[in-house]
Amino acid sequence: MSTPAEKLNALSGWRFSVAPMMDWTDRQCRAFHRTLSRRARLYTEMVTTGAVLHGDRERLLGFDAGEHPVAVQLGGSDPGDLAAAARIAADFGYAEINLNVGCPSDRVQEGRFGACLMREPALVGACVAAMKAAVSVPVTVKCRLGVDDQDIEEALDAVAGTVIAAGVDGLIVHARKAWLKGLSPRENRDVPPLDYGRVARLKQAHPDLPIAVNGGIAGIAAAEARLAEVDGVMIGRAAYTEPALLLDVDPELFGEPAPVADAFAAVEAFEPIIAEGLARGLRLHAYTRHMLGLFNGRPGARAYRRHLATAGMGAEAGLNTLREAAAKVSRERPPASAAA
Ligand SMILES: Cc1cc2nc3c(=O)[nH]c(=O)nc-3n(C[C@H](O)[C@H](O)[C@H](O)COP(=O)(O)O)c2cc1C
Repeated sequence: MSTPAEKLNALSGWRFSVAPMMDWTDRQCRAFHRTLSRRARLYTEMVTTGAVLHGDRERLLGFDAGEHPVAVQLGGSDPGDLAAAARIAADFGYAEINLNVGCPSDRVQEGRFGACLMREPALVGACVAAMKAAVSVPVTVKCRLGVDDQDIEEALDAVAGTVIAAGVDGLIVHARKAWLKGLSPRENRDVPPLDYGRVARLKQAHPDLPIAVNGGIAGIAAAEARLAEVDGVMIGRAAYTEPALLLDVDPELFGEPAPVADAFAAVEAFEPIIAEGLARGLRLHAYTRHMLGLFNGRPGARAYRRHLATAGMGAEAGLNTLREAAAKVSRERPPASAAA
């Protein structure tokens, strides 16, 4: 089994990651985020074992090497299927295989995976053991504090205990419970209260286990505050809706220059990747739908979004459409309080 230092090394970049988000963190989104940070670890949308084993693998798992480091998130609860899916994903070149123990949707509950696995720590341990035996890249788990009426001390300790025993390489904890009955997945991302202290206590109890915290972290300053307690932070919605915050990740959290000077330079840097996708038959919108928040806070941001939402939607829309949209944004940095 690898030492703690080796585990942290293997997960370099785990200090900051962008969360797995269904319908959002597709490969076009990840390619865009990669223009804003070299170091952020990026996660795929959740892919179920059934889809990996029986579906169109290239469509589900294909990605560009330029997205690295990129981790795939699997959804499932059958150890054999997870091992097989993990092997397939590792062969595709993913840097990490992550198991979803946090999604509360009904569809996922019917499949007996996601957050309801918080009630089955032994099974989660068996899943991790099977995945670890199948691949040499790190295997991690993303979980909640607990579900429904579970005690968050016991529930999280139980899952952490079994996955550590199975050799897990890291744990990402969305610092709130999921309520499996009565709340929609969306409500389950806001309504159950956040408890970062619980994740900090888990880290104190397991100093050797790389632990990242997720949930409600709005920006880099908030991320830094959390990094005083744990090894990594994962940001979801804020990174997606305000992608310019990713420009601060490399300088602030890794002491390295950002890959581009600002959001305008990010658009330019992204153009060749978009051009390649357009040449393969993708629509501009496949890229720009992930870029709508890029200029938030600058004068002209609304006109930029509107142009992308109108002219940018057509089959003929191309790089010029994006350039026209960006040209509507002021290059002057507005005062911090101003919003477009
Ligand atoms: C649109 C959307 C889709 C999501 N899909 C997934 C998913 O596939 N797997 C997962 O583990 N979490 C998923 N999540 C939850 C996020 O990964 C994250 O745990 C949650 O949004 C809390 O982090 P945040 O407050 O930084 O957004 C999703 C969240 C959103 C907003």
